[in-house]
Amino acid sequence: MQNIDFRSDTVTQPTRGMLEAMMQAATGDDVIDIDPTVRELENRLAKHFGFDRGLFCPSGTMANQIAMMHHLRQGDEVICEARSHIYWYEGGGVAANAGASIRLVHGENGCLTVEDLQHAINPKNEHAAFSKLLSLENTGNKAGGTCYPIADLQALSAFARERGLAVHMDGARMFNALIATGQSAHQHHGLYDSLSICLSKGLGCPVGSLLLVNESDYDSVRRIRKRLGGGMRQAGYLAAAGLYALDFHVERLANDHRRATDLAEGFIDIPWIQKVILPQTNIVIFYTDRDPSEVIRVLAEKGIRLMEMGGGALRMVTHLQITDEHVQTTLQIMRELE
Ligand SMILES: Cc1ncc(COP(=O)(O)O)c(C=O)c1O
Repeated sequence: MQNIDFRSDTVTQPTRGMLEAMMQAATGDDVIDIDPTVRELENRLAKHFGFDRGLFCPSGTMANQIAMMHHLRQGDEVICEARSHIYWYEGGGVAANAGASIRLVHGENGCLTVEDLQHAINPKNEHAAFSKLLSLENTGNKAGGTCYPIADLQALSAFARERGLAVHMDGARMFNALIATGQSAHQHHGLYDSLSICLSKGLGCPVGSLLLVNESDYDSVRRIRKRLGGGMRQAGYLAAAGLYALDFHVERLANDHRRATDLAEGFIDIPWIQKVILPQTNIVIFYTDRDPSEVIRVLAEKGIRLMEMGGGALRMVTHLQITDEHVQTTLQIMRELE
């Protein structure tokens, strides 16, 4: 039976080319001093997004949590969109790791505006938590892979800073956003105080995320990574996968986006699907009048895997190992469901 896995873009296996690049990596001990391939990846991504330094981390969650611990103190508050990964899927880390509270703000399509932010910043008095950080997410995962217009990011960043807030960007899928919108990385330069980028999602690497920061923040974030046990020694093997992905897996994200659109458009005339959110990138969210876990079970029996996202939503994500044929087979099977 086929195994077509749409649960996430994190399920990809490294390609042969990527494995070969990994085998040839020059490595060192990145905890004692330096692994040259890790440093190359850190420098390359930092430069690409206009930062001084990069910090290679085992996961996107760790990269985000290091940023939370760096920017926030006990009693501070971070403002984020209501569907943010840092709130839903990081094990309560903002409270547990940084001792901070979270202000959730509903934004259209998972994106905030200056007006939303304006209402969410606390007055400076003894009753309120200190509003210290704005945390954005691009693309917005739970919202369906949505992208911020660059003008909104510029306005949000300027307004947050004017009001004394630092800005973190959870850019787990930032490359998807760039490819889908046509924005350049250069347009994002200077907008964020920290930016996390995942290698193990659309870029197809087995492991790894980077936290990008400026020089003045580097020692602090590196110390926090060490404290969390996130220092990795011959991590150059993993970084080599990242370098390979930057060369070969960025432009191809457009294929994932096209396939997600093909899926979503195919859902429109499937009677048991009530609503589909047309994707901007590689994430399709849809709603059905059936029990979502039952839909997952029935499709799993036919070799198609997808994920429940709460509130009746189901998610399918296209990625490196989803082909046009997989999309057509899946649509066929879903159409035939009783
Ligand atoms: C938007 C976003 N941020 C962060 C993460 C965390 O990444 P990881 O699974 O590597 O911890 C994810 C994972 O899906 C994500 O979708």
